[in-house]
Amino acid sequence: MVQNDILLKHLSSIYDPELAVNIVDLGMVKDIQHIEKDVQIKLALTIADCPMRNQIETEIERKLLLLENVDSVEITTTAMNQEDRTAVMEKARKKARENAQPTNINPRTRVVAIGSGKGGVGKSTLSANIALGLSKAGFKTGLLDADIWGFSIPRLLGITGRIEANENKKMVPYKFNELEVVSTGLITSDEDTALMWRGLMLSKALEQFLTDVEWGELDYLIIDLPPGTGDIQMALSRLLPQAELIVVTTPQLMAQKVATRVADMAKRSFIPLLGVIENMSYFESNSGEKYNLFGEGGGEALSEKFGLPLLSKIPISEDTNNKADGGIPLINQENDSSTKLAIEKLVKDIAIKLPPVVDETCTGRLAKVFEELSK
Ligand SMILES: Nc1ncnc2c1ncn2[C@@H]1O[C@H](COP(=O)(O)OP(=O)(O)OP(=O)(O)O)[C@@H](O)[C@H]1O
Ligand SMILES: [Mg+2]
Repeated sequence: MVQNDILLKHLSSIYDPELAVNIVDLGMVKDIQHIEKDVQIKLALTIADCPMRNQIETEIERKLLLLENVDSVEITTTAMNQEDRTAVMEKARKKARENAQPTNINPRTRVVAIGSGKGGVGKSTLSANIALGLSKAGFKTGLLDADIWGFSIPRLLGITGRIEANENKKMVPYKFNELEVVSTGLITSDEDTALMWRGLMLSKALEQFLTDVEWGELDYLIIDLPPGTGDIQMALSRLLPQAELIVVTTPQLMAQKVATRVADMAKRSFIPLLGVIENMSYFESNSGEKYNLFGEGGGEALSEKFGLPLLSKIPISEDTNNKADGGIPLINQENDSSTKLAIEKLVKDIAIKLPPVVDETCTGRLAKVFEELSK
């Protein structure tokens, strides 16, 4: 059984998009019961016919079902009474005054971190392509290279430009077509010197990227994590409570064993695991035959161990990858390689699984109602 405070911790990553206060702090979660694998929640809505009711319920369900030991979620809703409503608005005002947001990332932004236990499994390649894919689909997307020393995003996207600061002394992400990109590699003058960042603790560097960058209103922020389970991964849950993690592994069973460490770390820091991607799964010949060059079963084993969906099996690409490493991402290449098609499908699935948060809320509407009333 998952303890109630852990459930509350996960629920508190669901924010009221407009008021930037989470549903737990707003007092919307009235009661939680966890009986065997079923979670029952009493949810107090600010107004009974709240238009965002479905979105809030779906999000609660989605977040809790990502947890191990939760198989079903039942939500019963009530409408808040006048007293509760006044208290909610008071809290929201107070939070707004305190400007409680720890970073410059809007709470309604979907944050997906791409991690792995082992290096070289394709985190950066997948982060770059997923972010580009979402951006090409029309979502406002940011790509943060959180691999402070081992950055590779600029090279993978073929970016040679640099990030500039604006008049408020905030960094402005590099625009790669419509995609907003930030990486230490875009700040330092070349790939070998990172003077400005030397000495900075890694988690501090991440914090700086989240607070001192003018990210704007993003639908998605994709974060390319460094390999392993270090400072950055730990800082993530503190700085971005809405972050969710995709674990990348390769088909070898050994790789999967290392990947479990990342999944364990995520659980310890309350980062929900969205799923597993098995990269370099197989090689597909021109005639469509599949060869398991690196063994098989790693992705399945990991997803079974943690009860997670296996989001995709991405085949090994051959010559296309020379181009990818040379700065033309797979998703931008003019061919229909099986790797590119698999990535395109993965991007679609992510957008369906984790649709952008609609920027309209019950409490927002309520605020307007209150405004009307107080006239
Ligand atoms: N599906 C694929 N088919 C062929 N090559 C791939 C595939 N995915 C990644 N690669 C290649 O594998 C190498 C490592 O990929 P990448 O840099 O994305 O891994 P990483 O997990 O980010 O590594 P690091 O841990 O060093 O950050 C690169 O040369 C990349 O082009
Ligand atoms: Mg990388």
